[in-house]
Amino acid sequence: MEYARSVDDVLADLAEIAASDGSWGYGRAFTYVFDGPDLEPVTTAAMRLFAASNGLDPTAFPSFLRFENDLVAFGRGLLAGDEDVVGSVTSGGTESIMLAVKAARDRARGGGATGRLNMVAPITAHAAFHKAAAYLDLEIRTTAVDEQFRGIADDVAAAIDDNTAVVVASAPSYTHGVVDPIAEVGAVAAQRGKWFHVDACVGGMVLPFIDGSPQFDFSIDAVDSISVDLHKYGYTPKGASLVLYRNAELRSHQYFATAAWTGYPVANATVQSTKSGAPLAAAWAAVRRLGEIGYRQLTADARKATNLVLDTIRPAPEVDLLAEPDAPLFAVTSANVFAHGAAMRRRGWVVGVTPSLGPSPAHLHLTVTAGHLPLAAELAADLVATAAAGGEDPVLPPGLDLSALDPEMIGGLLDSFDLDRDRALIDAAVDSLDPDARAAVISAVLQHLYR
Ligand SMILES: Cc1ncc(COP(=O)(O)O)c(C=O)c1O
Repeated sequence: MEYARSVDDVLADLAEIAASDGSWGYGRAFTYVFDGPDLEPVTTAAMRLFAASNGLDPTAFPSFLRFENDLVAFGRGLLAGDEDVVGSVTSGGTESIMLAVKAARDRARGGGATGRLNMVAPITAHAAFHKAAAYLDLEIRTTAVDEQFRGIADDVAAAIDDNTAVVVASAPSYTHGVVDPIAEVGAVAAQRGKWFHVDACVGGMVLPFIDGSPQFDFSIDAVDSISVDLHKYGYTPKGASLVLYRNAELRSHQYFATAAWTGYPVANATVQSTKSGAPLAAAWAAVRRLGEIGYRQLTADARKATNLVLDTIRPAPEVDLLAEPDAPLFAVTSANVFAHGAAMRRRGWVVGVTPSLGPSPAHLHLTVTAGHLPLAAELAADLVATAAAGGEDPVLPPGLDLSALDPEMIGGLLDSFDLDRDRALIDAAVDSLDPDARAAVISAVLQHLYR
């Protein structure tokens, strides 16, 4: 890499590097990007003004207090919280989940629990709960789902024991877009005196704007904490999520403080210590610009786009909808799903090709946003057409045992593949492995990519 370049050269370099992300065309990608409102004028200004501010000490930078308190108040209002509800702005869904689980764990420890603590969650709960369990040394007990992929309260009840620190449900689950029976799962958690967390990371900014959607918020007494991402259906730049708690006592277990070193005493609400104000200020600017009126309109557009697609694929024999979604995200499958995904890619759509697990078959995942509305008819037609024309799923070379490869060998193997051309083969290969081997392989791939 060349250093000490002129300002103009660095700007040109940045433009060139940005072009390498060019496949994220407006309205043609899913999950990674949330397109819709034109918030760029306010979010970019916010990021520029607050990039250098430091959340290490919000008394030194009162902007942090203003932005966070305003955003928490917005979330409290949206999710039927009373004035006791408090929270934090975090860097994303994973951090919100991690912190809620940590708070629940530490509260359970304080309550005298002995032995290894556990977390109970339907199998559809997001991977972030597995990560939280791994980081925080909890056992994770996953439970069954019904034929619409909703958690089953009786199964959750059966998995709870004295060492359960937290019970989890999703509103909705990422995979199938369905809301778990929040009141029922909450009731079994409450019956055993357990902390109940609702993961509304993906749904918290849309469900309140869909009339008749299932209840999932603080209006349900059993709900102790909720995670809701601003950087998903809040349409804010990446790096902003809310974690909300029923009251300050619950949140107190999230905080970390120490004065047992030679430097400044530290008290942190979240994982990061020094942190930029850029994503926080941008989230505040987006919420201030849109407000509930703006989000209601964006949700209506995202649903309109979703319904357009669903109305086309429901009668199409080539494509199966895995579950009727409660929010604008859903999963579909087809006879040759990996070839289907690759064929969609060739038409410029970046859909999530997802391997099978337990009751959930391999599928294509679509998180539909307001920005998809202008292209929804084309999307629907392409989803059906590519299911028929995508071709057969590739067959792996016999004798190739991916799970036996170490990171270096996987690196060598990767170099002989073209990520676009061989996509269906790669997706089929991942699907052929058991979940532990899948995880090992994708970790090895990532380790190979980051030098
Ligand atoms: C339901 C749900 N929970 C948690 C997360 C994790 O969020 P993040 O990727 O912001 O860490 C996601 C992300 O898609 C999600 O859909």
